[in-house]
Amino acid sequence: MRAAVLVLTGHLAAAMAANITCAEGLYMLCGRPSGAPAISPNVTLYGPDNTTGVGFVADKIAAQIPGSIVAGIEYPASDPDPDNGPFNLTTYYLSENQGVQATMNQVTAYHAACPNSQIALIGFSQGAQIIADALCGGIGPDVIPGAKFNSSVPLPVSLIESSVLAIALIADPTHVANTTYDVGNSTNNGVIPRANTTVCAAYSDRMQSYCEANDFFCDSGNSTAIHLAEANTFEDQVVQFVVNRWTNYTASKSGSSQSSSLPSPTPSSTTKPNAANRGLSVSQTTLWSSAGILMAALAVLG
Ligand SMILES: *[C@@H]1O[C@H](CO)[C@@H](O)[C@H](O)[C@H]1NC(C)=O
Ligand SMILES: *[C@@H]1O[C@H](CO)[C@@H](O)[C@H](O)[C@H]1NC(C)=O
Ligand SMILES: *[C@@H]1O[C@H](CO)[C@@H](O)[C@H](O)[C@H]1NC(C)=O
Ligand SMILES: *[C@@H]1O[C@H](CO)[C@@H](O)[C@H](O)[C@H]1NC(C)=O
Ligand SMILES: *[C@@H]1O[C@H](CO)[C@@H](O)[C@H](O)[C@H]1NC(C)=O
Ligand SMILES: *[C@@H]1O[C@H](CO)[C@@H](O)[C@H](O)[C@H]1NC(C)=O
Ligand SMILES: *[C@@H]1O[C@H](CO)[C@@H](O)[C@H](O)[C@H]1NC(C)=O
Ligand SMILES: *[C@@H]1O[C@H](CO)[C@@H](O)[C@H](O)[C@H]1NC(C)=O
Ligand SMILES: *[C@@H]1O[C@H](CO)[C@@H](O)[C@H](O)[C@H]1NC(C)=O
Ligand SMILES: *[C@@H]1O[C@H](CO)[C@@H](O)[C@H](O)[C@H]1NC(C)=O
Repeated sequence: MRAAVLVLTGHLAAAMAANITCAEGLYMLCGRPSGAPAISPNVTLYGPDNTTGVGFVADKIAAQIPGSIVAGIEYPASDPDPDNGPFNLTTYYLSENQGVQATMNQVTAYHAACPNSQIALIGFSQGAQIIADALCGGIGPDVIPGAKFNSSVPLPVSLIESSVLAIALIADPTHVANTTYDVGNSTNNGVIPRANTTVCAAYSDRMQSYCEANDFFCDSGNSTAIHLAEANTFEDQVVQFVVNRWTNYTASKSGSSQSSSLPSPTPSSTTKPNAANRGLSVSQTTLWSSAGILMAALAVLG
């Protein structure tokens, strides 16, 4: 990882206290999906700890933006559906609520320590919901019966505008169809639809919510296989979006001459892995492997 410590008098103490290394490129904070292990089974294949299941997308971005750091939101990412049993809503909201708080804490701490560095937030499934709730506000306890999601206050707009350059929500269960920040051919709301998208919509310049038709969770469809494959399905679009945001940012910061120095993202021609219609945990393991094969093939680790 080509991370460098940014020495900023006054903020260095904060960075050291929180053990934060400031990125010269993008600081990518990933929200991993339900059931993905905190400890990466293989950093080369799956990305660093706390990013399994989605870190491979951030690694591809890091390969195009020198000096980037890929890190993860530290939260349980509990699997509400172990062994393909009944969906345990309690397991889900307890984990999700912790994830929202962790997202808020980590974004706030990073910006305090590294005010001149930009963050990208990239989440998949439960990991997308925690990011959406941290930015747009907790969806509250009344959205679906029995789900005691917190009604947390969103992170301040000023904080997001000054420190968060890009937000990629992949297959968010709180997805709302036909918003200005939607990408993909989903036309239905997710299974836990966000009642109020006002704050999210204000971030339409920097936020994209990716969802494919028939995804069980973000489109209220009938396919868990489509859901489990979403990080792979939208991988190229997420990479292009985040790299474009970075290119625009560096261009606006230091004049147009610098924008042309970054390579444009090349869409992968690699065959997308086929997420077989298996149990959640098994499919996720399959997915991680597939993602790893893609990553290895593209030799993103430099
Ligand atoms: C700080 O993080 C590094 C790895 O990034 C780790 O090796 C070290 O033990 C951490 N130090 C503290 C005090 O947590
Ligand atoms: C991790 O994955 C890489 C790439 O496939 C492989 O070369 C390496 O042996 C793996 N490491 C372990 C500990 O399995
Ligand atoms: C990720 O996980 C490890 C434990 O495996 C932890 O020490 C580390 O601080 C975590 N943080 C981030 C930002 O990835
Ligand atoms: C659901 O999860 C909660 C919290 O983890 C647990 O206390 C409860 O027993 C679980 N319910 C079932 C039916 O397994
Ligand atoms: C959110 O909900 C959890 C339980 O689900 C609770 O422990 C926590 O205190 C709540 N509040 C915040 C701000 O996270
Ligand atoms: C949605 O897009 C996917 C990927 O392009 C495609 O396979 C699928 O058929 C589309 N579904 C609908 C309902 O348009
Ligand atoms: C979204 O727009 C499509 C096409 O206009 C429409 O068919 C669909 O019902 C809309 N979905 C929602 C949830 O409003
Ligand atoms: C939605 O949220 C915004 C921002 O918090 C608020 O101003 C607005 O009143 C809310 N709309 C509804 C219908 O609750
Ligand atoms: C799932 O939904 C799609 C779109 O409504 C439909 O074409 C398909 O037949 C359904 N599949 C199953 C197994 O129900
Ligand atoms: C980058 O800037 C151009 C020109 O201002 C704009 O058209 C484009 O939408 C921007 N891209 C992103 C991803 O913000």
